[in-house]
Amino acid sequence: MKVPFFRYDWFFQENRNDIMPKLDEIMSSGRYVNGEYTSKLEEKLAEICKRKYAVTTGSCTDALFFALTTAGIKQGDEVILPPFSFVATLDSVLRCGAVPIFVDISTEHYMLDVAKLEEAVTPRTKAIVLVQLFGNCHPQQKQIREIAQRHGIPLIEDAAQAIGAKDNDIHAGKIGDISCISFDPTKLVSAYGTGGAVLTDNEEEYSMLKKLANHGLENGVPQIAGYNSKIAETQAATILAQIEKLPQTIARMNEVAEKYMSQLKNVDKITLPTKCCTLSNFHKFVIRTEKRDELRKFLKDNGIETKIHYPTLLSEQKILEGRKFLKHNLANTEKAAQEVISLPIWPSITDAEISYICESIKMFL
Ligand SMILES: Cc1ncc(COP(=O)(O)O)c(C=O)c1O
Repeated sequence: MKVPFFRYDWFFQENRNDIMPKLDEIMSSGRYVNGEYTSKLEEKLAEICKRKYAVTTGSCTDALFFALTTAGIKQGDEVILPPFSFVATLDSVLRCGAVPIFVDISTEHYMLDVAKLEEAVTPRTKAIVLVQLFGNCHPQQKQIREIAQRHGIPLIEDAAQAIGAKDNDIHAGKIGDISCISFDPTKLVSAYGTGGAVLTDNEEEYSMLKKLANHGLENGVPQIAGYNSKIAETQAATILAQIEKLPQTIARMNEVAEKYMSQLKNVDKITLPTKCCTLSNFHKFVIRTEKRDELRKFLKDNGIETKIHYPTLLSEQKILEGRKFLKHNLANTEKAAQEVISLPIWPSITDAEISYICESIKMFL
């Protein structure tokens, strides 16, 4: 049997008959950006994330850069972030000319270690970036917000992977002063291309974010040097269709995760994901083993594609050469980077595929 890591077209294949007429309507209308679907998507995102305002962007990478810029981050400012994330989290900090300060993660959930974060904040810290990793919300997100508030610094939430997840009553996209979401094709809700969004409850920030994403324009007049970072109407329409079905999609992802958990629970030498928030969207199903590389090769030889999120710490990325940055003790992140392996997961993965993967893991170990 061959099992891919992810089926990018899973939603389209199941919903082709709903999506194609919408694409036809948009392509025939001549209105390709800043139209009705973009407005509807922004309203819907604000509604599901419980925010006042949402601005769609060309990507979450842009959204993060706009968020940091709007929060006043500039050349030389220190920004705390975890070293365990996709490189875009770091890129946005560097695009501002800011100095990345890397703080270790917890091996329980792979997100910022709150005690270490608390120790790392100094009067020079100008922002904290919280990454909501693998489809989870940080179980101590309220505490992280309190730390930021106590020090009078903005919390920027990178919720690229976490749409629909929540901890208690706080949904992904809510805890940051400014929060960002991705619709990259690897995500559970994705564009057939790229897309992102940035959310806030503050009217002035909203106005700045809108300008940054759309040529600096306000009422058609450029007010600042902006960027061109819009989402296409076709993408907005297809993202909206996926958001309508997000509760069912997340329920199905949780069923898949449960199946993995029950079939792997008694397997020695692997660590399964811990339930760290009220509702995960299981963007990634990440297990850990000291024999990670051998296991990965064995699975590959048996037709199963896996990935490593993330093999290289952000603090070790080449793009930092010659730049100022600081890394605290990152022992947990270093260990995680050597041991994690992401198993195939998408909503329509079959029971037979899950069983084949679990049996293969058992056979190897
Ligand atoms: C944690 C994280 N941050 C930021 C991004 C960047 O998102 P985008 O690809 O939409 O720019 C991604 C994924 O692509 C991500 O996983």
